[in-house]
Amino acid sequence: MVQRRESLKESPVKDAVVALPFLKWAGGKGRLLSQYAGLFPKDFESYFEPFLGGGAVYFHLSQNRKFEKAYISDYNPELTNCYKMVQKEPKKLLALLSKMRNDKHLFYKERARDVSQLTDLERAARLIFLNRTCFNGLYRVNSQGQFNVPFGKYKNPRIADAGNLMAASAVLQNASIHTGSFENLVSKAKSGDFVYFDPPYQPVSRTASFTSYTKNSFNLADQARLAQLARRLQERGVLVMVSNSDTDEIRDLYRDFDLTIVKAARAINCRADGRGVVNELVLRSYR
Ligand SMILES: C[S@@+](CC[C@H](N)C(=O)[O-])C[C@H]1O[C@@H](n2cnc3c(N)ncnc32)[C@H](O)[C@@H]1O
Repeated sequence: MVQRRESLKESPVKDAVVALPFLKWAGGKGRLLSQYAGLFPKDFESYFEPFLGGGAVYFHLSQNRKFEKAYISDYNPELTNCYKMVQKEPKKLLALLSKMRNDKHLFYKERARDVSQLTDLERAARLIFLNRTCFNGLYRVNSQGQFNVPFGKYKNPRIADAGNLMAASAVLQNASIHTGSFENLVSKAKSGDFVYFDPPYQPVSRTASFTSYTKNSFNLADQARLAQLARRLQERGVLVMVSNSDTDEIRDLYRDFDLTIVKAARAINCRADGRGVVNELVLRSYR
């Protein structure tokens, strides 16, 4: 989907094509950006985002702030490979995508392919294709790490979105893209840099939350490790912002941080009582 910059209030440039996330991702922050806008630091040197997902915050900041370089990563190698291909080979990727069709038989054939036998470009095209055509556009893997979402009900999904993919590729030229756990990426962050952490959320109740982006789920010990890291970064003068659910455990882990409540529409939840607007937290090492 191609959007024009004039729709963005913070926009410094009119009429240029805005790059939006090219993947729909569970926990995506696109709809929260208007509430987040006043919470980002005005100035910073380099940007770090180690739980990248669909990259809504990364794409937003890259087009609304001036900073030196972006360091982005995720645990999910299919996802980070896809970003690298959009960055380096957008035209070849579009050529592969333009051959793919929204067809149930082709979907299951593509889903069953062994990614270890595919080229990096084929893996990237497969992920975008499955993401555009699967049920709810949701990325989920089973315990073996295999994508297991069924075929979706979209009438005419945009599989080869040339305008947005080329715009995303242009934005990604400022990025250094990595694969791995969150600690690795931020080890080089220094005073004056900005780190945004958007981890899998701490469940509000045992059944309420979606946490299986990867085959290893993110538990309370991981949340505590992340909060400790956030505090160490703060001590080094790094600006840190964290998103998470509003639970007693998260409030306690970030008790020294500035706390803001934002309102989120819960999209992915099979329980009727979990739908609707919920409070989420934004925790910051700065004001
Ligand atoms: C809440 S999502 C991020 C959503 C993103 N902010 C967006 O707007 O689309 C969390 C991401 O963290 C990744 N992840 C899970 N465990 C991780 C870990 N230990 N280290 C790094 N990334 C991890 C998942 O693959 C997922 O993409």
